[in-house]
Amino acid sequence: MSNIILIGYMGCGKSTIGKKLSYAVRKPYVDTDKLIETKEKKTISTIFSEQGEEAFREMETACIKSLFAQKQEHVIAVGGGLPLRSQNRALLKKLGTVIYLRAKPETIYERLKTDTTRPLLQCADPKEKISQMLLQRAPVYEEAAAYVVDVDNKSFEQIIKEIKEKTDETISH
Ligand code: S3P
Repeated sequence: MSNIILIGYMGCGKSTIGKKLSYAVRKPYVDTDKLIETKEKKTISTIFSEQGEEAFREMETACIKSLFAQKQEHVIAVGGGLPLRSQNRALLKKLGTVIYLRAKPETIYERLKTDTTRPLLQCADPKEKISQMLLQRAPVYEEAAAYVVDVDNKSFEQIIKEIKEKTDETISH
């Protein structure tokens, strides 16, 4: 399927870029975090605190599976931890073209330092946590992705142009 799937660490811009890209390529936008929140009628933070991270990860896998039923192609932004399960990476590859929006830890920290909606970053030293998690996750994101787009210090227009170039290339080959 020719969905365009955006992956990457929290704060890399998946939802902002996803919404703008959705207009540019005329495919509706969906976001796995929002789909899960709507289905569960709870915020991600409440799911983490009441049911724990593992339960949330199960919801993510179910959510990705449910997207195969969509008839229309979409721009899909997925939660930062979703590609960590190898099963999910395999599902994403079947679902469409996976783009990794790669951001430096400093960029992410600047964007998320006052954020309270990411339970995994509500800790004493979020800067260190971001660096450590990125060290572990970057190779996983790279493995999951067909293409990598660096987002640091780029305009949204530039990022969208790069994504369009890469996805058109995929479609024409
Ligand atoms: C998570 C990323 C979040 C959300 C949850 C866990 C992660 O999504 O799914 O807080 O493990 O990286 P965003 O990447 O959209 O912030």
